[in-house]
Amino acid sequence: MPNKNKNLHKASKAKRDEFYTQLSDIERELKHYKKHLKDKVVYCNCDDPRVSNFFHYFSYNFEKLGLKRLITTCYKNQDMDLFSRNDSEQAIYLEYYGDKNCNHVPDPEEIGIKHLKGDGDFRSRETIELLKQADIVVTNPPFSLFREYVAQLVEHGKKFLIIGSVNAITYKEVFRLIKDDQVWLGPSIRSGDREFGVPDDYPLQAAGFRIDAAGKKYIRVKGVRWFTNMDFKERYEDLILYKKYNPGEYPTYDNYDAIEVSKTKDIPVDYDGAMGVPITFLDKYNPDQFEIVGITKTWFGAAIKTYPPQIQVSSNGRRSVVTKLNDGATLKIDSPPPSKTYYIVDGDRFIQLYARVLIRRKRGSK
Ligand SMILES: C[S@@+](CC[C@H](N)C(=O)[O-])C[C@H]1O[C@@H](n2cnc3c(N)ncnc32)[C@H](O)[C@@H]1O
Repeated sequence: MPNKNKNLHKASKAKRDEFYTQLSDIERELKHYKKHLKDKVVYCNCDDPRVSNFFHYFSYNFEKLGLKRLITTCYKNQDMDLFSRNDSEQAIYLEYYGDKNCNHVPDPEEIGIKHLKGDGDFRSRETIELLKQADIVVTNPPFSLFREYVAQLVEHGKKFLIIGSVNAITYKEVFRLIKDDQVWLGPSIRSGDREFGVPDDYPLQAAGFRIDAAGKKYIRVKGVRWFTNMDFKERYEDLILYKKYNPGEYPTYDNYDAIEVSKTKDIPVDYDGAMGVPITFLDKYNPDQFEIVGITKTWFGAAIKTYPPQIQVSSNGRRSVVTKLNDGATLKIDSPPPSKTYYIVDGDRFIQLYARVLIRRKRGSK
């Protein structure tokens, strides 16, 4: 029984990783990187060429983009319990060198499909060998492995463009790169949700799902962004600011020397100290205008004051240590909050906030 549960859990986790990026989203983002792609080897390493629009985009635009080579690898989970319909399938890879017969279409004989020995895991030795041959990696990687995925790209010094959850900004491994200006958000998605294709057997109870005329299933996913280390000119456009600082309007944190700015558009134009802003500030971040100094996450460790653990007594008398407040929750000032994250004091209460990126205006920028 426990094994069955474990398998069900693994299956549902694997299913959550099966989201197929729409061609229109890929086109909207990729148009910003044309100069980076010329004469380059592009690698899509989480992509089944039969369904991947990344493969579609690069193979059909191979000549227009002036690519040197396109490599694609397809993962096949070898766990029979998870994908029994794929029992007989093997992971594959392909290399495409462009149109040979001048019909402007990537024909099967031009796409050399080969079998991989293993399951095509992006961490396997044979796919890492392919990664080493690539200049640029472009894909939508499995969300559950996002941290590891980014770490591997950085370790191998690759240029990349990948799509993932906006919350990945707050991951220790990702934020460190954002702070050091080694990774930033791509320009084409700034808000709202995006539609992704899902497999035919995907359980669609979620709000925002759709089945098209051909019977293909889609779901809408909130808070996705492109993450990249390739430059584009829009990144250097200044955020135009209007508000002036006044202490009444911008509270200061209790355990960090910064002011709270709850909306990016309200960043005061004339404040020189540190400011805590929502993570979506990074949609507008120009590294010539602002410097990123930290994040209000416990692991970042910038808090100048920590609080003693608090004991909570429930209505039935059960006592427990409070380890976390819900976002936006408040505690009375005489029972200070337990964790090391940042709080603002509002009258006689502490307020715990959503994660804030800590920034400072660069001298001379307005
Ligand atoms: C979010 S989906 C995106 C698929 C495709 N890149 C796209 O955008 O249409 C992530 C894909 O990664 C595959 N995957 C899961 N674990 C993997 C691993 N360890 N190595 C390589 N690919 C993996 C999944 O099977 C899934 O198809």
